[in-house]
Amino acid sequence: MKEKLQAIKNSALEELKNSVSKDQIENLRVKYLGKKGELTQILRGMGSLSKEERPEIGKIANEVRENIEGLIDTLTSKIKLTEKEEKLKNEVIDISLPGKKQNLGHRNPLSITLNEIEDIFVSMGFTIEEGPEVEYDKYNFEMLNIPKDHPARGEQDTFYINDNIVLRTQTSPVQIRTMLNQKPPIKMISPGKVYRSDAVDATHSPIFHQIEGLVIDKDITFADLKGTLEMYVKKMFGEDAKVKFRPHHFPFTEPSAEMDMSCFACKGEGCKVCKGEGWIEILGCGMVHPKVLENCGIDPLVYSGFAFGFGLDRMVMQKFDMDDIRQLYESDMRFLNQF
Ligand code: DAH
Repeated sequence: MKEKLQAIKNSALEELKNSVSKDQIENLRVKYLGKKGELTQILRGMGSLSKEERPEIGKIANEVRENIEGLIDTLTSKIKLTEKEEKLKNEVIDISLPGKKQNLGHRNPLSITLNEIEDIFVSMGFTIEEGPEVEYDKYNFEMLNIPKDHPARGEQDTFYINDNIVLRTQTSPVQIRTMLNQKPPIKMISPGKVYRSDAVDATHSPIFHQIEGLVIDKDITFADLKGTLEMYVKKMFGEDAKVKFRPHHFPFTEPSAEMDMSCFACKGEGCKVCKGEGWIEILGCGMVHPKVLENCGIDPLVYSGFAFGFGLDRMVMQKFDMDDIRQLYESDMRFLNQF
């Protein structure tokens, strides 16, 4: 029996040393130490031994078991360690590799400038209103005192969706929408896209931007109009900027005017920005026509107001010294990144 135990020990240790996986080791544990394992069988047969032999063999059997178990433990922890090292190796992040580049966008000069303009008017107590770009003919023209046969319609080449709906040709319909929805006092600007059926070239785009302004209250006069717009120009272009008003005609204002400002590039000397004039035309304005107030349910005997409207694109081109309006709409990052 001693020899048998010795043989079991030898072969178990031998087989264990040659095993490389947890599964192999587990199989050997079952083979030798399991319920039906070789060592267990021997121990079961101990009943047939004499009293003298029993403790001696028992002692040897225990030693054999301890040997086998000890080796199993050692080998299992070795394998676990190797597996862990393997896993860590596979999870290594190579921090010397360059990361994926994130391409950040850039504000369009139109938005940069519009933000400045909005800040100025908001600081003077104006709200910012919005209106739809697909607009009723009624709001874009009729209620602004531009009936169907009015020559002003011919000047604004209109995209018609159908007889009653257009792509707005100006931001002025937001005046109508605001007066219909709010009670005076009203003090708002409304920036946005407008559309005219123009062929594209360096100075024309069928989409461009306007900013509308409207102030309605009791006792509003042309002096308020002049003061407000002069203040805006000085805040936008500097204290030394000058403005002048020329009489003009718009169907929705009476009297109407166009406002020019001294050229911000040459301060009035004459240069390529102002085409030698020293002045730049920047907006149309006037006192809101009594008919327009009436159209919107506001009593012209109680209330008066002024309105103004200007194009953003040309101003941006002059400010950033651009010579092609298309650059504002092409989203070319090489261009946009300069601003
Ligand atoms: N809507 C006009 C245009 O597109 C600009 C304009 C002129 C707006 C006078 C106004 C205004 O509010 O009072 O040509």
